[in-house]
Amino acid sequence: MTPNPGDAQTPEDLKERFCFRGLTFERGSGGLVRAVVSTDSVTGELYLHGAHVTAFRPHGHESVLWMSAASVFEPGKPIRGGVPICFPWFGPHPSDNTLPGHGRARLQEWTLASVWNFDDGGIGLQLQTVIDNFELSYHVHFGRRLELELRVSLPSDAASPAIFEEALHTYLAVSDIRQVRVAGLESSEFIDKVGNAASMPATGEPIEFPGETDRVYAPTSSPCVLTDPEKCRTITVAKAGSQSTVVWNPWIAKSARMPDFGDHEWPGMVCIETANVGASAVTLHAGQSHTMAAVISVSHN
Ligand code: BG6
Repeated sequence: MTPNPGDAQTPEDLKERFCFRGLTFERGSGGLVRAVVSTDSVTGELYLHGAHVTAFRPHGHESVLWMSAASVFEPGKPIRGGVPICFPWFGPHPSDNTLPGHGRARLQEWTLASVWNFDDGGIGLQLQTVIDNFELSYHVHFGRRLELELRVSLPSDAASPAIFEEALHTYLAVSDIRQVRVAGLESSEFIDKVGNAASMPATGEPIEFPGETDRVYAPTSSPCVLTDPEKCRTITVAKAGSQSTVVWNPWIAKSARMPDFGDHEWPGMVCIETANVGASAVTLHAGQSHTMAAVISVSHN
């Protein structure tokens, strides 16, 4: 169904327009509207604010995504945890520090355009928005796996090419960051944002976390495998159309500086972000599109 500009997005309107078994709409935290998925195979949540996935739990598993108990849920502010969409820039704006970090996509309400059922008992949602001159379409499939696909298009009448950065900034729940490892980036160089953005050679080893970690790996199209011995589980983040992967844990001092991140929450999360940032930024010419996808799956060890 193609949304009309005047379509309201109250839970009641959405229930009427998208009547699917296993899907409902409600006002969640801060009164913001969210879709709630609950089927035989999966439970999940997505806020229209930022098209932000805040929960994903295939049955038989604990929550895969991490959410901060200190997160703010307010129009114009980002949600802390889940899967924020960073777009059209990553981190601080390159030339104007009055603009919001990680771009505007996570700060605005997206339009729910369509919903469908999958044979595996999963539910798909498609959301869209416009940012600057870019048209964005985001497919989210809640199933045994969480499949996320962000398509960015530049209209055919665009006067000039345009460049953007993007990230699906996935916060994953872990038992204790000091016990987990991330494999898949052993042969990739990286920029170490903790160490003055120094370029570092590939380490040849899986990543372990003895302290604050903030790294942009590129070029890499490899999947990452997060092993969590205490939870006896492995989370895999596979991807397509992405040439960089960001790995982040703020540790003690940085999390204490973030008002929407609890001071003692840092051991319970790690971000493995499917991205195109820095040297992997994407240039589109008029009429072109680019698609980036992440697939998150979980298995028992
Ligand atoms: C990560 C960045 O992707 O996001 C970090 O690499 C940053 O440098 C983190 O601190 C969180 O950003 P924000 O804007 O959500 O606080």
